[in-house]
Amino acid sequence: MKILHELNKIKNVVIIGGSGCIGTATCNYFTSLGISVTVIDIVPPENKDLKYIHCDIRNFKKLNEVLSGAEYVYILAAISDANENSNTPLKSMDINIGGINNVLIASRNNKVKRIIFSSTVWVYSECEKENVDENSTLPSNNVKHNYTASKIAGEMLIRSYSNLYNLNYTIMRYGIAYGPKTNSNTAISNFINKALNGESIYINGDGKAYRNFMYITDHARANLSVLHKNAINETINFDGPESVSIKRVAELVKKNINKKIKIKCIDSKPGDYKGKNVSNKKSLNLLGWKPEILFEVGLKKQIEILCQK
Ligand SMILES: NC(=O)c1ccc[n+]([C@@H]2O[C@H](COP(=O)([O-])OP(=O)(O)OC[C@H]3O[C@@H](n4cnc5c(N)ncnc54)[C@H](O)[C@@H]3O)[C@@H](O)[C@H]2O)c1
Repeated sequence: MKILHELNKIKNVVIIGGSGCIGTATCNYFTSLGISVTVIDIVPPENKDLKYIHCDIRNFKKLNEVLSGAEYVYILAAISDANENSNTPLKSMDINIGGINNVLIASRNNKVKRIIFSSTVWVYSECEKENVDENSTLPSNNVKHNYTASKIAGEMLIRSYSNLYNLNYTIMRYGIAYGPKTNSNTAISNFINKALNGESIYINGDGKAYRNFMYITDHARANLSVLHKNAINETINFDGPESVSIKRVAELVKKNINKKIKIKCIDSKPGDYKGKNVSNKKSLNLLGWKPEILFEVGLKKQIEILCQK
């Protein structure tokens, strides 16, 4: 990756939401490279050696204080579970839109060098074409889920503040994460837990929806890669290496756990991401990043980790 030559120039990095699943993998990776990380979150990080500041991003006054001196600020804090977004819209939008707005204004006040925002490939959900890249127009008049709406809103606020206040940014459109600490509501974690308990696996929809699942260590490497100056004021996709249907995920989980369980299809969830071929060309060309972990390898790792608990 191009950034590895430039690491000595990066003095401090703040990860807001650093105690979550992508944040934990990122903190582990950054500290292994000698980068000093401060975590801002409402939950303490797993690694007790990290500098940690308890702060809710809805508290603008405190955010404004704790971002003093910050240079590179990752905004990972969010209600990341799509179901939680639709079930608790007041709280979720308060955090995913209002909280992000607070971080942006506090970053502007503190003359932060760059904010790095975790958007998602869900923003492509309603694009007509199967093959999408960063130049694809997002059909923002046809958004079907408030999680998607909140991420598109976050992106729009960031670009507007860059224009109004010269706040530098990088918008990262991550692929769907799997690996340790991922939310138990995600399809993969849910299937593994059911299978380990010998229960049936329920697929929402016909199982044909697909995702290019991305193992969280690939998110961590992506997070490092964007510190390169080539990522300044860019929107960049970081998706997983191969497309895997939800039905295939269920079959692989069953095969790996080797229990006699049934796989059943039930109603699909409204507004769920059906999958797109998201181009990773830009991240490769600009930053030298590409995903490393193939799905079957990552799935085995996740099952092993869950079985050890
Ligand atoms: N996990 C995925 O598949 C995925 C895919 C694309 C984009 N993203 C985005 O990447 C980011 C990180 O995802 P994740 O899977 O690590 O999420 P996560 O839910 O595991 O972690 C989110 C973190 O934010 C913190 N947080 C929540 N509300 C907060 C608040 N009000 N103030 C301060 N901190 C708060 C939580 O305590 C948690 O540590 C999110 O913005 C998510 O939307 C995730």
